[in-house]
Amino acid sequence: MDKNIVIAGMQFGDEGKGKIVDFLSEDAEIVVRYNGGDNAGHTICAENQIYKLHLIPSGAILGKELVIGNGCVVNPKILINEINFFEKNRKKINLYLSGRAHIIMPYHIALDGMEEKARMNKIGTTKRGIGPCYMDKAERTCAVRVYDLVDEKLLMKKIKQNVYSKALVLELDNAEEYANDIFKEYKGYGELLKKYVCDTSRYLNEKMKENKKILFEGAQGCFLDVDFGTYPFTTSSNTISSALFCGCGIFPKSIEVRGIAKAYMTRVGEGYFPTELFDETKNHFLNIGKEFGTTTGRPRRCGWLDLPLLKRAIMLNAADDIVLTKLDVLAGLKKIKVCTHYEIDSKKVDMFPDNPMDLKKAKPIYHELDGFENVDFGRIKKRKDLPLNAKKYVDFIEKEIGIPIKIISIGPGRNETILC
Ligand code: IMP
Repeated sequence: MDKNIVIAGMQFGDEGKGKIVDFLSEDAEIVVRYNGGDNAGHTICAENQIYKLHLIPSGAILGKELVIGNGCVVNPKILINEINFFEKNRKKINLYLSGRAHIIMPYHIALDGMEEKARMNKIGTTKRGIGPCYMDKAERTCAVRVYDLVDEKLLMKKIKQNVYSKALVLELDNAEEYANDIFKEYKGYGELLKKYVCDTSRYLNEKMKENKKILFEGAQGCFLDVDFGTYPFTTSSNTISSALFCGCGIFPKSIEVRGIAKAYMTRVGEGYFPTELFDETKNHFLNIGKEFGTTTGRPRRCGWLDLPLLKRAIMLNAADDIVLTKLDVLAGLKKIKVCTHYEIDSKKVDMFPDNPMDLKKAKPIYHELDGFENVDFGRIKKRKDLPLNAKKYVDFIEKEIGIPIKIISIGPGRNETILC
């Protein structure tokens, strides 16, 4: 790893970023989260264990220095549980937590559920309080940040302000008692987290000057980005690679963008999904690919790989190359389809449209390839040793997208990874 690297999801999240971050963090000194919160779910199979992480950067498994940047929203209870989990497993946690990151409070979680229930067009949120927390951040009146959590007086004042202003919507019988209970609980979290809190922007800028190798771990995927995703069916933060600049308070002059794309597609929650399937192939992806949400357990929607969508993701994220994940899951299918274009108003279009009105009308145009057999993928170490039709599939994608596929993942384990 010569440069800093950012890992960016190219689809709707769940592309397998966790495994790749774990794999690449071997070479990194610092692993950083810069957006989102515990709505993320990273499943990693390493050291004979399955880790399901939500908030702590995946570099925790290899004992790297970890940073949670100001762009994140932090549920302190989740973070403390994850720290405890690693410490019980005798792993030292070297965490730097931005004082500027915002805290997810119990009322955010309650409001997330209530708002979703009231919505005519559901988003299908993870109900982790992400949206309401970012709303408070943008609103600026009494949001609680990590710095406030470790300042008792300020914390009490902010919680009271917050609870009283939301009491009506939350249908609270006793706002005072509710606020006092939250204060007691969160004061405790502040005491536990105090030792990790710092100016992470300065820390990272200093580490960059020392030429430390930094891996930035994006959460969610390109089309869940609040600006560039399939709005309103998105999360509430920016998820594209450039979000790391504001989410960490740094401007890396040298950085490579590794785009992570699954060999087929999935989505949880509502929203546009042009190549979605409703047939037996969907069940193949669901069952063989174990496509159930890490955070919510919901079955994921499944579909064919969408190249117009991938091309837009490559553009938006300035991806240098692609890591293609879960190629092995396609094994056993007789035919494999790839969407190469859309038909919109009788016109052939080769990029995911910007305007949702066009997206609504987009009909995928597919290219069909022959499938490949199931083999012992764990034994394959080189791209040339993949089953012939699997190789043809990878070559086809690479030619269409115009950037190299640098890594291919053919199973959940670290050793089931091909460096091309
Ligand atoms: P929220 O982030 O909980 O507000 O959810 C908004 C949308 O983003 C919903 O459709 C979620 O299913 C989706 N989402 C949020 N985080 C992830 C993720 O890490 N992977 C996949 N989908 C996610």
